[in-house]
Amino acid sequence: METIQIVGGTPLRGDVRVSGTKNGSLALLAASLLVPGESVIENLPDVSDVGTMIQILRSLGAKCDMVGPRTLRVNAARLSTCEAPEDLVRKMRASFHVAGPLLARLGEARVPRPGGCVIGSRPINYHLQGFGALGAEVSEEHGLVVMRASRLRGGRMFLHPRFRSVGATLNIMMAATLAEGTTVIENASRDPDVVDCARFLVACGAKISGIGGAAMKITGVPRLHGARFAASPDRMEAGTLLLAGAITQGDVTVRGVRVADLLLTLDALRSAASKIQTGRGWIRIQSEGRPKHFDVITAPFPGFPTDLHPLTVVLMSLAQGRSVMEETIFEARFNYVDELSRMGAQIQLKGNTAIVTGVPRLSGASVIAVDLRAGAALGLAGLAAEGETTVGGWEHVRRGYEDLDLKLRSLGAQLTESERPTARLRNVQSG
Ligand code: EPZ
Repeated sequence: METIQIVGGTPLRGDVRVSGTKNGSLALLAASLLVPGESVIENLPDVSDVGTMIQILRSLGAKCDMVGPRTLRVNAARLSTCEAPEDLVRKMRASFHVAGPLLARLGEARVPRPGGCVIGSRPINYHLQGFGALGAEVSEEHGLVVMRASRLRGGRMFLHPRFRSVGATLNIMMAATLAEGTTVIENASRDPDVVDCARFLVACGAKISGIGGAAMKITGVPRLHGARFAASPDRMEAGTLLLAGAITQGDVTVRGVRVADLLLTLDALRSAASKIQTGRGWIRIQSEGRPKHFDVITAPFPGFPTDLHPLTVVLMSLAQGRSVMEETIFEARFNYVDELSRMGAQIQLKGNTAIVTGVPRLSGASVIAVDLRAGAALGLAGLAAEGETTVGGWEHVRRGYEDLDLKLRSLGAQLTESERPTARLRNVQSG
């Protein structure tokens, strides 16, 4: 288990640049399987989930070469199998993104069920219903989901309006790009990662309209061609660094961001009495004194992102008065609460709501991260805590944040790591 040690109490100050989006990059890499030729994806973040997705593409027969520190060339001209390997699929739920492209390209996809995960049960019923509506036969054998269709046909489908599933929108959209006729996805996700993936597919020759709207329309084409596309900035990383500024009562400018992707996050920070300034590609946060209490309800984009929930509760834990966090997307997002309570946070859970009574300061403790965002939240709590905090399970954080430890240190955080793994994206060999 990787650990970090943090000595809390230093307000973070300075400028920091965000990396490319983790979730958006995973979608772009899966989409490159639809192209019977070469695609080039730029600005990939150096995180372990991206490394896992590259391994999955290779296991399916795609050739992947790093042609720059953050740039991957994928050649998916010849796919050798329609079956994704269980050991890699189990590592990360987003590996199910390859189902739609495989089904559309090869007429069959065999992908292990990604299984439950620590933030909730995370079913795939909307993905499978979508494939069914495109004419695929779907069955399950021994944990393997088998999807078959000699030719996919366009269809109309309604996703659940409360969730507007990101993953299901991606999978159905990707499969529909090569289907016969037109597909309409009602209640499609408007998430920037979905928008980027759609734009990449359009650059590859796909016909998609309604991108970023409530209904997306995809008219199938016989084949796609390759394109070059850059992943957008990671808005969750940007939000995390801004929250780090607020939590430590510091002054942090985050650069290389898209301000429009973070509007509700900025509203929440303003409610907590942080001063926010924005410009083209940058956001500055200045916080003095204890934050004010504030309330948040998570919702699909453009709502407040569930991925920033645990980090926001750290800020609520330090606010004056009582704040409320209502989680509407993942039932088990609260898995960080016991560990944060070990640091002195006062959090009462009622169903899907956390009632947080702010305390003047947290106290350093030894805590364990069980998922990516919970890990980052505990790290941020350590920055504001009195004394030393040890966060175990930091490898979860590395799945989705590029060098979060180094970026926080560059802002003045006193933070050391037990070990740094050497297998990084930039060392990925050709193959
Ligand atoms: C994506 O997960 C992100 N992951 C998550 O980020 C993010 O939290 C989530 O979207 C919501 O924004 C990736 O992009 C790799 P959903 P996804 O399908 O696509 C239910 C992180 O920390 N649902 O939008 O899996 C589901 O259970 C990760 O970076 C069904 O019921 O999320 C959830 O309650 C964690 N059936 C809701 O919909 C389905 O078939 C939204 O899930 C699909 C989803």
